[in-house]
Amino acid sequence: MFFLFIPVILCLIIRKVLFPRSAKQLLKKHVVITGGSSGIGKSAAILAANRGANVTILARDEHKLKLAELDVKNACTSQEQQVKYFSVDVTDSDAVTKVFAKIEECCGPIDVLINCAGKAVCRKLEDMSIENITGVLNLNVLGTIFPIYCVLPKFKARKEGIIVITASQAALIGIFGMSVYSASKFALRGLAEAIDMEVRPFNISVTLALPPDTDTPGLKTENIGKPEETTLICESGGLYNPDVVAKKLLDDALDKKFFSYIGFESFVNTTVCAGLSPCSSISEGLLQFFCMVPFRMIGLGYLASFHRIIRRCLEKSNKEK
Ligand SMILES: *[C@@H]1O[C@H](CO)[C@@H](O)[C@H](O)[C@H]1NC(C)=O
Ligand SMILES: *[C@@H]1O[C@H](CO)[C@@H](O)[C@H](O)[C@H]1NC(C)=O
Ligand SMILES: *[C@@H]1O[C@H](CO)[C@@H](O)[C@H](O)[C@H]1NC(C)=O
Repeated sequence: MFFLFIPVILCLIIRKVLFPRSAKQLLKKHVVITGGSSGIGKSAAILAANRGANVTILARDEHKLKLAELDVKNACTSQEQQVKYFSVDVTDSDAVTKVFAKIEECCGPIDVLINCAGKAVCRKLEDMSIENITGVLNLNVLGTIFPIYCVLPKFKARKEGIIVITASQAALIGIFGMSVYSASKFALRGLAEAIDMEVRPFNISVTLALPPDTDTPGLKTENIGKPEETTLICESGGLYNPDVVAKKLLDDALDKKFFSYIGFESFVNTTVCAGLSPCSSISEGLLQFFCMVPFRMIGLGYLASFHRIIRRCLEKSNKEK
């Protein structure tokens, strides 16, 4: 059966080259972005404004929001576009409910909700403080659920809406030094799959973004105290620019794709972990069908190399003692 593998891949590549995606516009759309004052969220806000949307960004830090608002305004292409920001802690359900009511009042119904608020603390589990643990879980999980909880009834009533959940490659693979972070991102994958099932009949789409390491202010904080093992295991994935990641995320969301990933490694990881996840097109399904077995073999090689790295680091630290 595997002789079919090559023609299928060739067809997909030819299709990609002959029919490149045109950048979809967001005219007359209202896009709301959490974690919109920096990183992938800010890049997505700038891109949405550039494509004609009214943009509302949410984050905690008022000062950073003001600066981001300026950049987003500069990216607008027409005078009629509106850019707003609200300072809110997305882990506070009451505050989130209030702010979403305010957003709809001032700027009209929401068409696209992009959840980018999140953080990572990379330590071995026993080296994490309780504050670190609850902080990561609250922000990444509840901070994504609360905004979706606010918009879903309205999306359903209007039979229209796009929800983006930003997870990570760590939503597919648990990696040394990322226990709590991976737990939070695995949770987002479950959330995305379940609500995708709930909202499909209502013309609402869910996109789960699985970005690799992205060059954001968040990553710089994340690197403080990161175990050497984690750095060595993750370095093969490369470092991506937030603008590039945001563009892929937005394009995939507008195409109503379930998974959004970028780069060959992420393609391998997402495909081998697809399992019973939603499938966005026949070509995607075929590709997963043919690639899963060879990718699992590659994956086993990867895993063996990670365990070697961990053993080597342990030997080294034993010697130093
Ligand atoms: C953006 O908001 C302005 C002012 O509320 C409104 O006139 C305009 O139609 C909106 N545009 C879009 C794209 O929603
Ligand atoms: C479904 O939603 C899209 C926007 O996401 C909208 O353009 C389209 O009109 C909607 N279709 C129906 C049948 O409501
Ligand atoms: C894909 O998964 C491997 C582990 O199997 C990991 O080392 C690599 O960093 C992941 N790729 C990306 C782009 O995150």
